Amino acid sequence: MAFTMKTEIRDLALFRGKPLFNQPHHVGRPNIGSREHLLARINDLLDRRWLTNDGPYVRELEAGLSAFLGVKHCIAICNATVALEIAARALELHGEVIVPSFTFVATAHALQWQEITPIFCDIDPLTHNIDPQKVENLITPRTSGILGVHVWGRACDVESLQSIANRRNLRLLFDAAHAFACSHQGKMIGSFGDAEVFSFHATKFFNTFEGGAVTTNNNALAQKLREMRNFGFAGLDTVIKLGINGKMSEISAAMGLTSLESLDEFIAVNYRNYQVYQQGLKNIPGIFLVEFDENEKCNYQYVVIEVDEGISRLSRDVLIKILQAENVLARRYFYPGVHQMEPYHSYYPNAGLLLPETGKLTRKVLQLPTGTAIGEDEIRYICQLIVFSVENASHILEKLGNRE
Ligand SMILES: Cc1ncc(COP(=O)(O)O)c(C=O)c1O
Repeated sequence: MAFTMKTEIRDLALFRGKPLFNQPHHVGRPNIGSREHLLARINDLLDRRWLTNDGPYVRELEAGLSAFLGVKHCIAICNATVALEIAARALELHGEVIVPSFTFVATAHALQWQEITPIFCDIDPLTHNIDPQKVENLITPRTSGILGVHVWGRACDVESLQSIANRRNLRLLFDAAHAFACSHQGKMIGSFGDAEVFSFHATKFFNTFEGGAVTTNNNALAQKLREMRNFGFAGLDTVIKLGINGKMSEISAAMGLTSLESLDEFIAVNYRNYQVYQQGLKNIPGIFLVEFDENEKCNYQYVVIEVDEGISRLSRDVLIKILQAENVLARRYFYPGVHQMEPYHSYYPNAGLLLPETGKLTRKVLQLPTGTAIGEDEIRYICQLIVFSVENASHILEKLGNRE
């Protein structure tokens, strides 16, 4: 497929030029492994008439994931939001829990849904993760835990958070929704803290359509999680605690097992895409690609840039407009920060005062398309478009100014 390079400002689709792509390129188009294997598994589960309720595919997926992650227990759940809710309850979180605002809203919702107050903590601007130095100041007699998020798959400062949790007698839970197949200091993410929660949503590089899991090395906690996932049942007629329906269905597990077979291939494609972006975006003033430690395992599912308007002259939001007009559906994750969303904005209107770094980052970050649905050539053209836009920033702004 031939694409046309932009050579003049009027070539930009924002100014009525022809869009670079005829079809939209989304940031998270699902990866799909072998259809043949998936359909065989679906036929099999239909023949068995075992569609849900701790079926053989769910068990096989749980065993496969625990082995891959090097963790004792993996409890498959219908999605990561419910998994976070069940984990929070199983860990007896209550009162206040310290959490970043720079995350997907589900992290905070899982707490607030159970009337646990999320106390928003600022991030370290270098890592985009919760800043342990700022956690300590937020601890009150009502604090019961810390919920860290491994944003973009880069691990939180696990050691510092664990040391605070130990010292202050708090629970430590991780939202590892971004971090499946990533490592921290050579150890797979999945066995840090008291428990970790993964998302296998369709937009994640490894998906089960909808799905998630809680992983832990704690036997008693694992047992509790399993019971809570299944209405609190401990036998056919025996309900021993409050529970919910958090079960993963067999068809989701069938997709998970199929995705697992292609995991290396998905990561290889993401890594190749990342390298093409790295090459194409280097040395652009004010455009900084989020980097990953080459010594760690990484899924490279997020290609994220920070736009420093002071240098690029082009704001992140103008760049997004340019990209979207060209059918590059870049996204502003996690804009505008959870503390600015409802109900948090109404409940805690002053939360932003303690979140200066979060505020700055939510105005800079932009996510670009990757995954198996986009090719190297398309990525090269996206990079060229960004280079062209930054090089012509003042003309673009002038033209936009005249138009408004
Ligand atoms: C950081 C984070 N936490 C939680 C979730 C929720 O996951 P799910 O859609 O599986 O409920 C997401 C989903 O995108 C996420 O990015």
